[in-house]
Amino acid sequence: MNGERTSMDQTNSSGEYVEDVELTGHIIDSLILPKVLDEIIQLGGRFETDDIQIGSQRSDPSFARLRVTAETPELLEEILQSIGQHGAVPVTQTDCRLIVADMDGAFPDGFYATTNQDTDIRIDGDWIPVAGQEMDCGIRVDAANRTAACVPMSDVKEGNVFVVGRAGTRVHPLERETGRHDAFGFMNSTVSSEKPKAVTVRAIAAEMRRAREGDGKILVVGGPAIVHTGSREHLSHLIRHGFVNVLFAGNALATHDIEQSFYGTSLGISMTHGGSIEEGHEHHLRSINRICRAGGIRPAVEQGVLTEGVMHDCVSNDVPFLLAGSIRDDGPLPDVITDVIEAQREMRRMLDGVTMALMIATTLHSIAVGNLLPARVKAVCVDINPATVTKLADRGTFQTVGLVTDVEPFLRGLVEELGG
Ligand SMILES: NC(=O)c1ccc[n+]([C@@H]2O[C@H](COP(=O)([O-])OP(=O)(O)OC[C@H]3O[C@@H](n4cnc5c(N)ncnc54)[C@H](O)[C@@H]3O)[C@@H](O)[C@H]2O)c1
Repeated sequence: MNGERTSMDQTNSSGEYVEDVELTGHIIDSLILPKVLDEIIQLGGRFETDDIQIGSQRSDPSFARLRVTAETPELLEEILQSIGQHGAVPVTQTDCRLIVADMDGAFPDGFYATTNQDTDIRIDGDWIPVAGQEMDCGIRVDAANRTAACVPMSDVKEGNVFVVGRAGTRVHPLERETGRHDAFGFMNSTVSSEKPKAVTVRAIAAEMRRAREGDGKILVVGGPAIVHTGSREHLSHLIRHGFVNVLFAGNALATHDIEQSFYGTSLGISMTHGGSIEEGHEHHLRSINRICRAGGIRPAVEQGVLTEGVMHDCVSNDVPFLLAGSIRDDGPLPDVITDVIEAQREMRRMLDGVTMALMIATTLHSIAVGNLLPARVKAVCVDINPATVTKLADRGTFQTVGLVTDVEPFLRGLVEELGG
């Protein structure tokens, strides 16, 4: 809270603090209006509906003007901040407040903390869209060029100008797509292992087909269970057929994929008979070593050392990949970016244009990538453990369609749905 107000000095005859706010868009069928009203009450405020116009067709936007009342200015500010995240904008608007960062690596006190929902800021009376929408960032403003962008704390430079407080900001909440009755049409649906999976897989396949045929871009984030469960051929099929435009993973997926290419094992277990192989536990280390000696994954493919598998298919189909490091990595492979801040920066660059993210069997990388995605990116999380999917949604990637299943039948079903 920064003390700046719009019409915060406004009180009613009982001495309570009031603010008029407006909501526009698909606020009824996306359940935005009920959420806003509920939040006002939950936080201890009251509302009166000044005006409400409900669209008569499904595609028509609706409009509501509410008078929000609270006993103290602090409570009113808390309510306005909270409902602002659902697109409630004060009728009386001011420009955003800007402050210059006084040091590298930290925002000015009271900085506006972003969500993953598209946001605008107001400068000289004009609304300007914020680029690179991402949660848990600040908004850096170039007032001369009238541009604004999300910036993580680690990238703040002394002298950068940041938005402070809530005034002059406006959020566009994600609306349910009209006419959609599939998995992507129902937001915040609960995660359950008892859902009809074939229906969800069909919806995911349809979305992937739309992305491949239009201007969409599909990101796959994968964990090593893809290899351990014998599913890597399914992922390779998707890569070869243009259904993967970017791959994010850690050291493990690439290592075990390469281990299978070199030794026919994954973590020393034979991929043909499922039994352990003598000295098999060394296979992944020897695989990493061979790639180190070749100078990396791409050189290994170019030298004919690595001739098959997911990483090979990424290289030979020009699918860019990013391997982010973690504390438990063996080796790691030379391609792994071990500086996590640098890995995040590179991920942000590679996420440009991504419209759909398939996060498969990795808690670490799914949550890391989920944090970087704007809410408008369609996200799918596939994991055998419901807690992974729930965690992802709880950490803000609320738009996630969750599928609790073994990765193998999921990928097999997806490949069958998509065909060649
Ligand atoms: N040897 C190595 O270098 C090595 C080995 C393992 C992990 N790592 C690294 O550690 C980090 C975390 O690894 P991670 O992503 O494997 O672990 P993680 O714990 O983040 O995620 C593993 C996920 O896979 C899920 N899972 C397991 N079996 C599954 C199945 N059959 N179907 C669907 N989901 C399944 C689990 O429920 C879990 O959510 C990564 O960066 C990875 O590269 C390195």
